[in-house]
Amino acid sequence: MKEIQTMVIVGAQWGDEGKGKLVDAFSESSDYVTRFQGGHNAGHTLVIDGITYKLSIMPSGIVRNNVRSIIGNGCVIDYRHFQKEFETLVEKGVKINPDKLLVSEDASLILPLHVEKDKQQEQVNNIGTTKKGIGPAYEDKIGRRALKIADLFLGEKHIKNKLIGLYENAGYELVKKILYEDVLKELLEFKKFIEPYVATTWKVLNDEIKQGKKVLFEGAQGVLLDIDHGTYPYVTSSNTVSSSASSGTGVGMNKIDHVIGVAKAYTTRVGNGEFPTELFDDIGEHICQKGHEYGTVTGRKRRCGWLDLPALKKAIDIAGIDSLSLMKIDVLDELDEIKICTKYLVDGQEKDFLSTVDKNKNITPVYEVFPGWKQSTEGIKDFDSLPENAKKYIQYIEKAVQTPIVVVSTSPKREDVIIRDVKFEHFFSNDTSGLKI
Ligand code: IMP
Repeated sequence: MKEIQTMVIVGAQWGDEGKGKLVDAFSESSDYVTRFQGGHNAGHTLVIDGITYKLSIMPSGIVRNNVRSIIGNGCVIDYRHFQKEFETLVEKGVKINPDKLLVSEDASLILPLHVEKDKQQEQVNNIGTTKKGIGPAYEDKIGRRALKIADLFLGEKHIKNKLIGLYENAGYELVKKILYEDVLKELLEFKKFIEPYVATTWKVLNDEIKQGKKVLFEGAQGVLLDIDHGTYPYVTSSNTVSSSASSGTGVGMNKIDHVIGVAKAYTTRVGNGEFPTELFDDIGEHICQKGHEYGTVTGRKRRCGWLDLPALKKAIDIAGIDSLSLMKIDVLDELDEIKICTKYLVDGQEKDFLSTVDKNKNITPVYEVFPGWKQSTEGIKDFDSLPENAKKYIQYIEKAVQTPIVVVSTSPKREDVIIRDVKFEHFFSNDTSGLKI
């Protein structure tokens, strides 16, 4: 059996699936953890020895001394936020040096004008964005005028000209509150701050993979928020599917060994957009409270609903997911019955997937109903110890989506997982010695 050397971890729903717990566990035995898309719209909280670390743009490997973290070319970096998050981590005792962190010279910058534009566009579009400037920064990237990290090293005049171009494009009126002279000054300071960390990261990663180093590609958001394949326009502005790990780092697809999709045992979503299995009753509220379903970045209450199998199957297809990790099964412990959506009625017609043209139609989920297990699964670490009904629930999902569930998570704690495939056992050795800060 070939050992997995490179692995992508993506969210298989609309984000907040609990990727962080998995990335954290897997990073212990990885050499590199690299982000490949998104910016500080992502959020991940780590609690280590009673200290809470909130990560948004930093890859989850940053708190470990044995791991080098990389922010890949596909990411967008808010220079003000980056410096703040960096300094907060250092204040908490995290050692950051170029052996621990590299930033791609090709990553694009989020400027204050992007944040302003995001807020203003939201008043019209009402997507429910995080208002962090993500969309407008990607717009400038695709428009081929973005200020990239490398631009900071091409002289003041060059930065000034690019900034003027960006302001003109945004419309001075729109962003007039933000003086570009101030931004220019800040950028010149930021250049000095980030300089030791800037690298040609595609080269580093490819060379290191050839040397046998283990690399984890850390997805942000979920694949149903993908700009091409998600519930457009209620999506984020990057490709969140696993193939983006390749384009967002410069590592070829043929170098990626495995893709794990992370899904909750139910579904949540923040922001607006389609959510056929959303619950508006006491059960939805119970899931929200028991699952602490509040956003890490914005604190917004997440919308909660039943597991949506057609949506999960789509995620598995579009993201090339090899195996699944099922999270938060314990959140369902007290329910009398649990539903799984197996197909939809679209204007009265049965369908087991949704086309984009279906979105304005009348969509009703068709459910399979399962008896609850009504006992605690919290902290269970082997499959056989789960209540029979919980086992049946998990086995039903795995069979329906024809993808093995290799990990089941039974509490927020790092060690509370059931590993169902020996290939992954070494990732969860319960050895926290790698957590040296
Ligand atoms: P944006 O990424 O800030 O532009 O937001 C676009 C959509 O993606 C909104 O519905 C956000 O709520 C959602 N979104 C962005 N980042 C995350 C995340 O990390 N978890 C869950 N949803 C997210």
